[in-house]
Amino acid sequence: MISQSTIQQITSRIDIVEVVGEYVKLKKRGANYLGNCPFHNEKTPSFTVSPSKEIYKCFGCGKSGNTIGFIMEHEKFTYVEALKWLAARYNISIEETAVSPEVKQQQQTSDSLYVINNFAQQHFSKNLFETEEGRDIALSYLKQRGFREEIIHKFQLGYNLEQRDDFTKAALAHQFNPELLVKTGLVVLRNELPVDNYRGRIIFPIHNPTGKVTGFGARVIKSTEKAPKYINTPENEIYVKSRLLYGTYFARQAIDKLDECLLVEGYTDVVSLHQSGIENVVASGGTSLTVDQLRLIRKYTSNLTIIYDGDSAGVKAALRGLDMAIEESLNVRLVLIPDNEDPDSYVNKVGVSAFRSFIDTNKKDFILFQLEVMLKDAGNDTIKKAEVVNQVAETLSKIHRPEDFTKLQDYIRQCSGILKIEEGGLTTLVNKLKRDKVTKEEKRNASHSPLDAPTDDLQNAEPDINALLNNDEAQERSVIRVLLEYGLKPWDDEKTMAEYIFEELQEFHFENPGMEKLYEIYRNQYEEGFQPTAKSLLYHDDEEVRKIVVNINIVPFELSLNWDKIMEGMNINNRDVSRQDVLMSVNYFKLRKLKKMFEENQRDMEKSVSFEEQINLMKIHKVLKEEEQKITSQLGTVILK
Ligand code: GTP
Ligand code: MN
Repeated sequence: MISQSTIQQITSRIDIVEVVGEYVKLKKRGANYLGNCPFHNEKTPSFTVSPSKEIYKCFGCGKSGNTIGFIMEHEKFTYVEALKWLAARYNISIEETAVSPEVKQQQQTSDSLYVINNFAQQHFSKNLFETEEGRDIALSYLKQRGFREEIIHKFQLGYNLEQRDDFTKAALAHQFNPELLVKTGLVVLRNELPVDNYRGRIIFPIHNPTGKVTGFGARVIKSTEKAPKYINTPENEIYVKSRLLYGTYFARQAIDKLDECLLVEGYTDVVSLHQSGIENVVASGGTSLTVDQLRLIRKYTSNLTIIYDGDSAGVKAALRGLDMAIEESLNVRLVLIPDNEDPDSYVNKVGVSAFRSFIDTNKKDFILFQLEVMLKDAGNDTIKKAEVVNQVAETLSKIHRPEDFTKLQDYIRQCSGILKIEEGGLTTLVNKLKRDKVTKEEKRNASHSPLDAPTDDLQNAEPDINALLNNDEAQERSVIRVLLEYGLKPWDDEKTMAEYIFEELQEFHFENPGMEKLYEIYRNQYEEGFQPTAKSLLYHDDEEVRKIVVNINIVPFELSLNWDKIMEGMNINNRDVSRQDVLMSVNYFKLRKLKKMFEENQRDMEKSVSFEEQINLMKIHKVLKEEEQKITSQLGTVILK
């Protein structure tokens, strides 16, 4: 595990606005920053970042968290990966302490797989250039296809010798663990003997976006009918196909610069286009795109151009993923390469400038393209045609960014033209589908657990007392909130607010296990001389604790959003309300618990049969009553009946 002091170093350096700002365009708004939420599509920016609290919150989709949470969500990182990412970013060296055996195992496996893959890549490259077999069979094949040495080196292509265990032998001589070798997919056990999984193939290393080799694609040279053309690495700790696109590492700068990503099917298409100077290109490997892959693209650009060969099954596969692309707010265009060519063979045939202009003039908007394909399929069948209308409306209803409004109008006009239906009718249908979606979304959000979203009762400036009293969690939150906010401040000459709270709540406990945990962590840290605050606990390594801290932080944060505005025009005395806040929170907490004790006591009395027990329960009743009176008189209100 990463040591506490490293975590502290990292968290003290974190600038949430800077980190989030790399992914989201942020504008200063009062004390906070505002931008378009990267996690959902929205009409008006409601993604808010508070630099002082170091949290973000989207008021549209409800996502919220700290800087680490943001990186985790956005990059699909684990907590540790996010910390490492931030450490690298701020040049902080990582000090590791003992980790749980499973995590350690997983980490070690990943690290080892990268080491093996790196070794394998070099081994295969050496085979390609330095063995007779490699040069005669593989290098000559690649050259005959038009690949020059420079590009072969750049993509680190290689060759696996015909010999049944050339790689296996080299790897075992290097002391690599046989089990891990099997995991890489390069080695298999035949009759309990480790041998190469495939032989005599061209090797395409597959890099992750940071350039490490996560796996391989291996292509046959002589096309025999039996063998599959490509053999890919099986899924393992580091090779997760749905999250990778071939070529990302080599393409990302060009994609960023040109603000467009070209997507092709094959490894060879990527290499070939690169060689021609077209570098903003990645390959899907012929399967439909996943959300993770689309988000990977979205990190660099919102313009995706898919280049497939005209009759390929890949087109259909690609089309399947594309409604998701629209939801991810990508502009998708499609070009089909004619005459049974693929991008690789076509660029070799016509040259790069003709290739470029072909792409530019034949790029077709995906939505219109899809419509034409479906209409052709439907022919004169009126039922099928009605289905097409619904389908198109469904797709269009996924466009919902405000800046896309004109785009949507344009689509509606063009689609209704192609379909020969009224524009107004299509508009109505699209709007209805949009509304349905919003309703569904609302229902889904409503059923989320209270910890995922702030509860309403604390957001009102004047809390509804009944709501407070009927909800343990509200009081518990409130106590945790004041503890985090004011704990280190003085209560009086003798003690801090935290000490006052500990004293008052000695006999009580939290119902909510997460809050109980947080309370105990706070108390332990406090008693050991640390000075726990919302900020320090925001980076505690327990996820539940982090989550609660974030959510508790958000309540005043949300209030302050409006306050920012109100206060701009008003001159408000900067009155210190901390003491009152603590007092109220502690007392409401106690009242709530007392009320429950009353109820319990009452039930016991009704059930009780022995006189002695009755007397005892009466005593308890009296004590509770006194306690309650103390509290209510302190609060100046009578709440309990
Ligand atoms: P060349 O034919 O050498 O130009 O290769 P290509 O990359 O153009 O291959 P093709 O267009 O036939 O296929 C596109 C992509 O689909 C390949 O790059 C592979 O990622 C994948 N693919 C093709 N054939 C197979 C196969 O037999 N098995 C697997 N797993 N993937 C394949
Ligand atoms: Mn090809």
